[in-house]
Amino acid sequence: MNILVLGSGGREHAFTHKLLESKKIDKLYVAPGNAGTNEIATNIAINPTDFEAVKKIVLEHNINMVVVGPEAPLVEGVHDFFLSDEELKSIPVIGPKKDGALLEGSKDFSKQFMEKHNIPTAKYQSFTSETLEEGYVFLETLNPPFVLKADGLAAGKGVLILEDIQEAKAELKEMLTNQKFGAASATVVIEEFLKGIELSVFVLTDGKSYKVLPSAKDYKRIGEGDTGLNTGGMGAISPVPFADNDFLTKVEDRVIKPTIDGLQKDGIDYRGFVFIGLMNVAGDPFVIEYNVRMGDPETEVVLPRIESDLLELFEGVATQTLSDKSFSVIDKTATTVMLVSGGYPEAYEKGKEITGLEAVEGSLVFHAGTKNEDNKVVTNGGRVIAITSFGETIEEALKTSYNNINKISFDKINYRKDIGFDLTK
Ligand code: AMP
Ligand code: GLY
Repeated sequence: MNILVLGSGGREHAFTHKLLESKKIDKLYVAPGNAGTNEIATNIAINPTDFEAVKKIVLEHNINMVVVGPEAPLVEGVHDFFLSDEELKSIPVIGPKKDGALLEGSKDFSKQFMEKHNIPTAKYQSFTSETLEEGYVFLETLNPPFVLKADGLAAGKGVLILEDIQEAKAELKEMLTNQKFGAASATVVIEEFLKGIELSVFVLTDGKSYKVLPSAKDYKRIGEGDTGLNTGGMGAISPVPFADNDFLTKVEDRVIKPTIDGLQKDGIDYRGFVFIGLMNVAGDPFVIEYNVRMGDPETEVVLPRIESDLLELFEGVATQTLSDKSFSVIDKTATTVMLVSGGYPEAYEKGKEITGLEAVEGSLVFHAGTKNEDNKVVTNGGRVIAITSFGETIEEALKTSYNNINKISFDKINYRKDIGFDLTK
């Protein structure tokens, strides 16, 4: 089979690496990809939200399946585009259609979905500029901290958590009337703050049955000890030690089953990944958010732990035979540490030469923001490279990642030296 992976991050490099293990792969293309995918597959320089460009390469390269990495093409309807095109409609797309992608594309929609299907989540209400005053009144009924969420996609920046009620009111007004996050904050969800520890579970579904993939915890803040600005993710660990069988059974019964059933009941034919962001509140799971794709850098620890042939699983998704596919997970810990450009998540420079990658031993190197330039590999984004390792324990896996990181350099390299700090000791 010829496969096209859409996207350019560490997640997509991890997909490419995993898919290449399948004997069924003939050719693998990544659009646009990075220097890492370029080494093991063929990059094609197009924008994944330019659907006409995607169509052109699918036809030109006889692609048999499209795997969508990031949310933007899904939310913008790449799957619907395929289904409505005579030449493309028989080519499966791994990733939901627009209706399913709303689980990530609209916080208001996802909260309504959870409420309707009795899925545990924080209490909430949604407001627009017309109901600003009612928003102030709702804030008064909550205890601090106050959680304000832009309804639409806001590049991971649309959630504000504020201690002070006056500040919360001012920010609500900024979001609703001054379009702080553009059209994404035309509607704002205000919700109760949940106190607990976060983790994520991932589900692959064909719309009828599902496989629960390994759980993971990511480290979103730039600074050690979970301080400073939010990033796309500075590292991840799988499995999550506190997500024991007892907790995961609750997650499956209270969250996963009702989510898959709810999609069916609502007539949403969902084929792809569901990323469920959870808060463990005193042993009980509450949904913080849904994403309609895999996480990054969570993919860099989740996929390496899957023993099964990923392409087989994707074929199961495409033909709704996922329940017939075998699925097994490697019983080891995987950790990943993200190397980032100095300055990220604020302004940073690109084009810095990366050296030492060939010296890495015993870890997987997943490129994120990299590209080839004059026979060199150079930085091309905030998050640059993820170093994934296995171990019997978190400490052992991290030790391998950090030993290898010492061999890699580029100007203004930065990374967190304390990934897993809250899970070890
Ligand atoms: P979201 O984009 O909805 O995942 O929110 C971004 C981050 O804000 C989450 O990863 C949590 O750390 C935090 N967060 C969101 N909602 C809540 C909540 N209701 N209670 C506590 N923390 C939250
Ligand atoms: N690492 C968080 C995300 O992919 O959304």
